[in-house]
Amino acid sequence: MTQPKLLAFAGSTRKGSLNEAMLRVAVAGAQAEGADVTHVTLADYPMPLFNQDLEAEQGEPDGAARLKTLFAAADGLLIACPEYNGSITPLLKNTLDWVSRKDAGGPGGRYYKGKTAGLISASAGRLGGMRGLVHVRQILTNLGAVVIPEQLAVFGADKLFGDDGVPEDEARAEQLRDVGGALARTTAKLIG
Ligand SMILES: Cc1cc2nc3c(=O)[nH]c(=O)nc-3n(C[C@H](O)[C@H](O)[C@H](O)COP(=O)(O)O)c2cc1C
Repeated sequence: MTQPKLLAFAGSTRKGSLNEAMLRVAVAGAQAEGADVTHVTLADYPMPLFNQDLEAEQGEPDGAARLKTLFAAADGLLIACPEYNGSITPLLKNTLDWVSRKDAGGPGGRYYKGKTAGLISASAGRLGGMRGLVHVRQILTNLGAVVIPEQLAVFGADKLFGDDGVPEDEARAEQLRDVGGALARTTAKLIG
């Protein structure tokens, strides 16, 4: 079976991001199931707020072009999705929008079609960002990705890690690893 290639990133670049911390655990789960994971931070792929005039005048930003290269190389996406006001964060939506554009502009989608996606979210709140996951799932599905049913919204996420960054709640950590593992296995099956 071919080794699945996954691209992992979080929709937050905040210092001490809970989603970034959760993503590291899910990435470990994907790697344990044999995936080759490229884990990046969106801080390294800056993009202005999408505007079609800007795109027409200046083309795509370097950050979008470089991230598209990583999307193109990946068989699947592992995304940690913070929830703002019950939905996707502006950073994640802006990133998905830029990547959705064809290289020469215009509606795209080829960077998503046929790829798998696995979603997690984390919040200090009681729902763990679950409402936002519904929206991210819908957006990625519209773009042609196959979003796996396994997902996890981690509530009380501010209490999950000790000061050393190691998860203190092993049961939750295992659930996170399971999402990464499920994505690795499903992707491997789909690419054959
Ligand atoms: C504008 C804004 C809206 C938010 N709305 C929600 C929300 O609807 N549900 C929730 O659980 N947390 C909400 N939060 C709290 C975030 O989930 C929390 O800051 C979380 O730690 C962000 O993810 P990060 O730690 O990965 O940066 C909101 C935060 C901001 C700044």
